[in-house]
Amino acid sequence: MNDSPLGLHPLTLIQISDRGIHQGGPDAPHMALHRITALPGDGTGREVMTEAMKLLRTIESNSPMDFQITEIQCGGQHYLKTGEEWPEGSFEYCRDESDAILLGAIGWPGATMPNGDLAGGQVILGLRSGLDLYANVRPIKLYKGIQHKIHGGFKQVWSPDLVDMVVVRENTEGLYQTLLSRSSHAAQGIPYPSVPEIEIPGMDGEFAWDPRPISRKGSERVIRFAFDIAERRSGTPSDGTSRVSCIDKSNVTRGCQLFRSIYLEIAENHPDIETDMAYIDAFTMWLVRQPEFYDVVVTSNMFGDIATDLASTLQGGMGMAASANIGDDHMMFEPVHGSSPKYAGKGVVNPIAMLSSVQMMLDWLGRRSGDTDATVAAEIVESAIENQVSEGATLTYDLGGEASTSEVSDAICARVASMLATHYASA
Ligand code: IPM
Ligand code: MN
Repeated sequence: MNDSPLGLHPLTLIQISDRGIHQGGPDAPHMALHRITALPGDGTGREVMTEAMKLLRTIESNSPMDFQITEIQCGGQHYLKTGEEWPEGSFEYCRDESDAILLGAIGWPGATMPNGDLAGGQVILGLRSGLDLYANVRPIKLYKGIQHKIHGGFKQVWSPDLVDMVVVRENTEGLYQTLLSRSSHAAQGIPYPSVPEIEIPGMDGEFAWDPRPISRKGSERVIRFAFDIAERRSGTPSDGTSRVSCIDKSNVTRGCQLFRSIYLEIAENHPDIETDMAYIDAFTMWLVRQPEFYDVVVTSNMFGDIATDLASTLQGGMGMAASANIGDDHMMFEPVHGSSPKYAGKGVVNPIAMLSSVQMMLDWLGRRSGDTDATVAAEIVESAIENQVSEGATLTYDLGGEASTSEVSDAICARVASMLATHYASA
């Protein structure tokens, strides 16, 4: 199998527009040109990236939007083959030459760095930390027509009109802070300072430990971000109440006590938004029993990592779960699922998590660049996915269907093409 979904060499600059070559960079003459850096990564990440490219091409052919796409090969498989996680200069390219980054998946069996870190960590964790992408935004929305895979069979457990929340996971510190920071240093070629050995009273013999630093700065920015999202949404699916839920373990950890106290400070500036606090253990129970109660949820790094895998079950599984990593100056979009080595190369995985991540990218490009065509495209892609799922004809195995990865995305792209054509014909 060709390593590159686009059949290109690493760091090859390619232009997928059929409207001639554009010069990228900040002085680019064409306002609506968006510079996208595609990082396919490992396993099924590569397969879904191919489908993401199809979607971008479909949008280019049917709207005024233009993308300049750069593909960079990277990840654990790339490491096993080349001895590097990605080509030198890749971090800087993502930082300086990209309006948005699109990531497939990182992680491959046996692909581990000599120091024991995940090979490909420079890519996913190095970018999250090094570009300060502090808000990991993971929407949990259940579309009509989704059957939940439970006990090996399909049945509808949760109701589509009662699941629509956004989990905002802190993305730069907490329990993953040391690995994030190490990866970011490695990505930029900066030596990571050695961490002093410590003695922990009551711990004897061999032990391993991970610090879990939670800062005021890190908490403030992500909690503010969660409230801003709540201000823009229309509240919970049950009764439209705007609510930000703070999920922590402040009965046990100091970091969570700080996080919760900052949450309460920020909540005071949002009298129109209801406050709600729960411990993570209880939250996992409420999440499945009464998802309709949740509008926006904000939580620390590891709790958000775990809770969003569970939450993906509500929306039909990992094949449906999209995400954005947002910072003040940069943004990266990726499906929540991993590289699924078991399914890699078979062409069977669900592309919707990736296509929905592209949808989030279009939405954020519209928001940040003021390009209304991006916002239109985002709305149309979301409708296309919603319609595709609710008709239930062409779906992958995880949703009870038999279609291949590309059949699903071809069907969604066809819907997008026709909706864009209709939109621009009447505009
Ligand atoms: C995720 C993944 C990553 C994380 C891994 C690959 C480091 O599980 O995006 O949720 O824990 O953040
Ligand atoms: Mn995860």
